Amino acid sequence: MPKRPLDHPAHAASTRISSPVLPPSPDVPTPLLGNLTPSQFMRRYWQKKPLLIRQAIPNVAAPLSRDELFELADQDEVEARLITHFRNKWQLEHGPFAADELPSLKQRAWTLLVQGVDLHDDRARALLDRFRFVPDARLDDLMISYASDGGGVGPHFDSYDVFLLQVHGKRRWRISAQRDLSLRPGVPLKVLQNFEPEEEWVLEPGDMLYLPPHIAHDGVAEGECMTCSIGFRAPSSSELTAQFLYHLAERGESDDREERAPKLYRDPQQPAVAHPAELPAALVERVGAILAQVRWNEKDIASFLGAYLSEPKPSVVFDPPEQPLNEARFIQRASNFGLRLDRKSVLLYNSRFFFLNGEENRLAGLKKWLIEFADSRCLSAKRFVTLSDDSSVTALLHEWYRAGWIQVDEPV
Ligand code: SIN
Ligand code: CO
Repeated sequence: MPKRPLDHPAHAASTRISSPVLPPSPDVPTPLLGNLTPSQFMRRYWQKKPLLIRQAIPNVAAPLSRDELFELADQDEVEARLITHFRNKWQLEHGPFAADELPSLKQRAWTLLVQGVDLHDDRARALLDRFRFVPDARLDDLMISYASDGGGVGPHFDSYDVFLLQVHGKRRWRISAQRDLSLRPGVPLKVLQNFEPEEEWVLEPGDMLYLPPHIAHDGVAEGECMTCSIGFRAPSSSELTAQFLYHLAERGESDDREERAPKLYRDPQQPAVAHPAELPAALVERVGAILAQVRWNEKDIASFLGAYLSEPKPSVVFDPPEQPLNEARFIQRASNFGLRLDRKSVLLYNSRFFFLNGEENRLAGLKKWLIEFADSRCLSAKRFVTLSDDSSVTALLHEWYRAGWIQVDEPV
């Protein structure tokens, strides 16, 4: 397999960020948002209108070099797509891609998109963490695209909010708030039929464009370039309804298992029938009455959302330590280096429960440190030492460490 020369700029990916980055506090202006505070940004732009931010991250380095991105695109568990626009024809292929399956670097108009890079690389996760002024429950993933000159995915719209951060080379973005979002038929990707750009900018490394859902946009590489997309999840109402009903059904089944004599459908008044195939109207009525008894409250909704939104994506596999430290050595190590959530872990909480990777647990008794751990995604060595007197806490953390959900930090 031919090896590609490593001709990505030397500075790219040269600073390994392994310590967690704290999110900007809501009321402190930040260059990331053009010197707005996160609160101002959320009030004025979030879900409302686009914002171009010059030098959101000055001297930005691509979290991964081009060759590292190509290597990732060759892995089975990574979602990668190749989009080409050769001879005026859009084509889409799904990965994995061996390096020699990608077009030549000299070829114009192709782009490789790698989804969920934050799950595979701590530097990518650290970049995503800068956007934690938006609740984790809304944060989806970091996608990185590499494009050869003229490459892009065509004019399209997305159904979610996105920050498009230029991390290498230049890209020309054109955007439009047009109403007509009809798509070109017979094209394997979502390409707008009639794109009428209203604004246009060339983004250089460190520049960033925020787009709310349904803003038409088209980004074309000027020379080779790399762009990071920080995307947010926005489940549809029908997805939420279906998943919630599924959650209620699962709860109902476990209630049934617990009851000695679960309530069964009964019809002691059913008369004999001459038309056995006919669905009895009384049956529909009685089942209607049973369904009308289905009740839920805010706790059920929060339990559902906590579990559903912290559930790892289907491709996620945690890597438990091959030779785990025993609890005593784990405590010793955590007392020196502290702990951090694994980059793939999702930890959410509300006033009574916490949800770690899809599992719900009571918060009671853990409140004093778990909230801090969830918000900062790390526990300093000093903080861990204050907790290590409580054996139930150290046992729980040791269990999470053994599952690969948390990491005992290496010194940085
Ligand atoms: C890209 O990075 O090429 C595409 C990102 C987008 O338009 O959403
Ligand atoms: Co887009």
